[in-house]
Amino acid sequence: MTPQTAGELAATYGTPLFVIDLDELDLEIHRFTDACLRRGIAVGYAGKAFLCAAFAEHLAATPLRLDVCSLGELVTAERGGFPAERMYFHGCGKTGDELRAVVDRRVAFDVIDNVEELEQLAGLASPDAPVDVMLRLNTGIEAHTHAFIRTGGENTKFGIALDQYAGVLTRIAALPQLRLIGLHAHIGSQITEVGPFLANLDELLAAGDRARARALPVAELICGGGIGVEEEIDDPRPLDLDALSAGLAARADGFGYRLALEPGRALVARSGTSLYRVVAVKTQGRRRFVIVDGGLTDNPRPIIYGARHLPEVMTARDLGPDEPATLVGRTCENDEMGDYALPRDLAAGDLLAMHTTGAYTYSMASNYNKFGRPTVVFVRGDHHRRVVRGESADDVTRLDVI
Ligand code: LLP
Repeated sequence: MTPQTAGELAATYGTPLFVIDLDELDLEIHRFTDACLRRGIAVGYAGKAFLCAAFAEHLAATPLRLDVCSLGELVTAERGGFPAERMYFHGCGKTGDELRAVVDRRVAFDVIDNVEELEQLAGLASPDAPVDVMLRLNTGIEAHTHAFIRTGGENTKFGIALDQYAGVLTRIAALPQLRLIGLHAHIGSQITEVGPFLANLDELLAAGDRARARALPVAELICGGGIGVEEEIDDPRPLDLDALSAGLAARADGFGYRLALEPGRALVARSGTSLYRVVAVKTQGRRRFVIVDGGLTDNPRPIIYGARHLPEVMTARDLGPDEPATLVGRTCENDEMGDYALPRDLAAGDLLAMHTTGAYTYSMASNYNKFGRPTVVFVRGDHHRRVVRGESADDVTRLDVI
């Protein structure tokens, strides 16, 4: 983003502002479809990374599927006109309403996380109109990533453990209202090596054959998402998509399954930028703090995961040489967003862009301190349009009952 564009966006919509560059997004979508579809690997976008109705509308025009994990995500996708037959439901604690949405065919299939969900869904579905399901397995494969974003391995809550799998197969084979069409295993997020994906696929292939041995119609194996992205825009890409999809396709060759991936971060992270205005600069002790008009509420990732999102100055004036600074938000917390080199003369009113914030920032935003969540804007070339309103004080109090 050029300083000129950033200035125009900030002047038009205010700050903090969450910007998605559709050209960048389309480039990443194309990278995935190019690397995967021609090898017969389906790609589903994990909506939890970022979703709004206009985004779902944009995806509807691509070959991507969509993984939703709540009624909120489902309704958002429906408002964007995303077709039911390309959606599927995830989640490890689905509500009755969510399972009813599956039975009502508002999605193509459900990914069952646990035995309780299996029984509840079986109770809602009818043998006259069997519901397509997959089983989410905990294949025991651990990816070397932050503990909070690791979802495979024996110490995590997700999926059906392999030692319970045989019992679940027996049960599902006795339920004519459920049709087991596939298996799924997502082992974590921000993975930077191909190896764990291949090890996970090996487990899925073995599990698929155990299901087929019981004449269950397992046709697809979803190898999860988790494809890592670089932290700083100039870093090399940490995982080669082509190597990943070629590796997966080669490993599954001859087994007769359709494969799928479900990336969230790698599809959307790079297209997102957060724009902030500096509200104050102060030096306390030996530290220089640059306070911006957002923070923990619109990007909790630095605090939760120690994530870094490189800030770039978008003010078109000479601000002197870079000096160490700690970037902080304006919440009543030590919401440090990282230590960076920022210009000596940076001052209130200057504009900063934080890069690669497309994934898990807006979608994890909160109303802490009763701050409103930011406006979301789509940019394509010189054109921009607001796709989500920023929340006002009225918005953040609209649910109060007195
Ligand atoms: N599939 C399932 C079942 C998932 O749970 C997730 C993410 C994905 C796919 C997509 O994973 P991705 O390709 O985006 O890595 N809030 C954390 C990330 C949590 C990921 C949760 N599950 C962060 O900000 O890093």
